[in-house]
Amino acid sequence: LKCRFIIPFLLAATILFSGCQKDVLEAPVDSTFGLTLPAHFPNPVYNFKNNPLSPAGIELGRLLFYDKDLSADGNISCASCHLQNNGFSDPGQAVSAGVFGRTGRRNSTPIFNLIWSPNFMWDGGIKNLEIMPLAPFTEHTEMDLSMHEVIEIVSAKSIYRNKFKEAFGSDSIYSQKIFFALAQFQSSLLSVNSKYDAYINNQITFTPEEKSGLNIFRAKCSSCHQEPLFTNYGYHNNGSPKNVAIDLGRYEITLNESDKGKFRVPSLRNVALTFPYMHNGSISTLEEVLDHYSSLSNNTNSNIDPVLTQNFSLSHTEKNHLIAFLETLTDSDLNDNPNFSNPW
Ligand code: HEC
Ligand code: HEC
Repeated sequence: LKCRFIIPFLLAATILFSGCQKDVLEAPVDSTFGLTLPAHFPNPVYNFKNNPLSPAGIELGRLLFYDKDLSADGNISCASCHLQNNGFSDPGQAVSAGVFGRTGRRNSTPIFNLIWSPNFMWDGGIKNLEIMPLAPFTEHTEMDLSMHEVIEIVSAKSIYRNKFKEAFGSDSIYSQKIFFALAQFQSSLLSVNSKYDAYINNQITFTPEEKSGLNIFRAKCSSCHQEPLFTNYGYHNNGSPKNVAIDLGRYEITLNESDKGKFRVPSLRNVALTFPYMHNGSISTLEEVLDHYSSLSNNTNSNIDPVLTQNFSLSHTEKNHLIAFLETLTDSDLNDNPNFSNPW
């Protein structure tokens, strides 16, 4: 008898609940609590209802992001490996140095437009932006603290007490608030105002080289590096050179044979500034990236995405035009924005 009531109840609850979730995903632009999102972008996937952005929350997140005390040697903040002027990547470093100069095996990802990202890391191993900081805080080669230690350090600095109160209503300090504040600051890091965006909105024209580069890009690259975010958030093997550290990419998360060597497609926004390239930083320049793609034709490595092994060679002129186009994706609104710089 009871089941008769419970099942319809569960069904109603499920419909209600998924109805709510749908609302979030399809919510109008103003539900992003102050972020201005341009019309040529899709709706964000970030659940703002769970962690509504506020100026105080973003400011607190910014302080935490740039705080070097939150590391085992007192020298490393999030910003040590994610530098604003380079799309929050680590320019020139194939792998970044964490505490005591320890290095990991992967290239620091840029940080922007995270509110559109369904998952994080080169292998997509982390699903929620609020969980993300746990990895760098506790990782031996990055900041190497326990969350208990992070909370102790934050609690000991008087500047934070008021900031937590302003952001979350009470001055108690615990992990979730730290994670939420960092998520708020990182959610505010948008790259939506490049020359490309002005072109798409008919505010400017492209040079003939840039226009030709865009056409080549749309013919060869945009199936994976999909506009306007310049990623489809999928996992592909583009045959990027391996280095000594073994890295099986997406396979390490799914254990599916077919995922060996697949990495999440990176956004190409700000790509002129986020060198070196690929999950291991194994390619130094954009010219070399294009030489790499151009050399894949008739490649017999069966793991490489088939799209890339047919008719992919690029002429010298095509490469130059592609680079002219890729440079239009640089966005000073992100890289030079005083709102995103070191507040300390
Ligand atoms: C020692 C260097 C280092 C430090 C310090 C560091 N990161 Fe990272 N970060 C990385 C690397 C390397 C990756 C890519 C890791 C991977 O894919 O396995 C990454 C990835 C990320 C990503 C994923 C972005 C995406 O698009 O998938 C986010 C978000 C992020 N870091 C935020 C932070 C925050 C917040 C902090 C501070 C709490 C921090 N990082 C500290 C090196 C660092
Ligand atoms: C089949 C999907 C696919 C296609 C098509 C593709 N790429 Fe990629 N691209 C990827 C993947 C996956 C990575 C990351 C690989 C890795 O880290 O090892 C990547 C990485 C890159 C990077 C390095 C970015 C960074 O931040 O490290 C650049 C630049 C790039 N691609 C440009 C292009 C251009 C230009 C084209 C067209 C000529 C193109 N890609 C076509 C999947 C693709």
